[in-house]
Amino acid sequence: MSVDPPRIGLIGGTGLDQPELLEARVERPMTTPWGTPSAAPVLGEMAGVPVVFVARHGLEHEWPPHRVNYRANLAALQAAGARVVVGLNAVGGIASWLGPGCLALPDQLIDYTWGRCQSLWDGPGEMRHVEFTDPMAPPVHACLCEAGRRLEVAPTPRGVYGVTQGPRLETRAEIERLARDGCDMVGMTLMPEAAIARELGLAYACIALSVNWAAGRGARGLHVEMTESMAAATAAALALLRAALPALAALPWPSRDESFT
Ligand code: HPA
Repeated sequence: MSVDPPRIGLIGGTGLDQPELLEARVERPMTTPWGTPSAAPVLGEMAGVPVVFVARHGLEHEWPPHRVNYRANLAALQAAGARVVVGLNAVGGIASWLGPGCLALPDQLIDYTWGRCQSLWDGPGEMRHVEFTDPMAPPVHACLCEAGRRLEVAPTPRGVYGVTQGPRLETRAEIERLARDGCDMVGMTLMPEAAIARELGLAYACIALSVNWAAGRGARGLHVEMTESMAAATAAALALLRAALPALAALPWPSRDESFT
């Protein structure tokens, strides 16, 4: 695969999966050593910054969280020139400060998923135990936090994201357990995305948008809350992303090693 000049990689999740978010779009279909991404990467611009976008669940939302080809999505972004990647992930709020429509910038995660392709390295041969103490790349997370401070809907600059298997939503007892474990939010897609990004040497961080109270935490049905809050949550996440992009583009471009994580 050829490697293009640097641009910011974006992985759009539920509610943020349309390439029309970009200006001056050009589709760049490709395959990777791990197969084809969920949708063809789209090159374009956002806030005047060159970006490359992949719809995590595909353009028709056809890939459920446990079947997304996370490896191919990230490898395709890298081949299209991404060194910094921002994931946009819808979550349910567990902490009292993360109601529907609010944003958080998680700095930690707990992985409850199983049976997903968790690593680039699946057979004999080269393998590295990448450090993952801080699963979000600090410079990217810091840029998002700094941009968030300037916004009206200021995101909480920390939080523990519990990653569940899905595609079903959780039980009350599962959310109580996640809360006891210290999770502030629950979603289905941060892993293995964050770990594979680290293995590829990409500087990755997540913008989490709360679209519902986690199971048992709200007074109404989760789908009612999702329908009602999706527009506000996606608008807030996009505002944050646009505010952060110039600073992300100004980060020193790392080589393919772990010095920037
Ligand atoms: N649970 C898991 N994933 C989610 C949720 C939730 O409540 N909301 C959005 N993604």
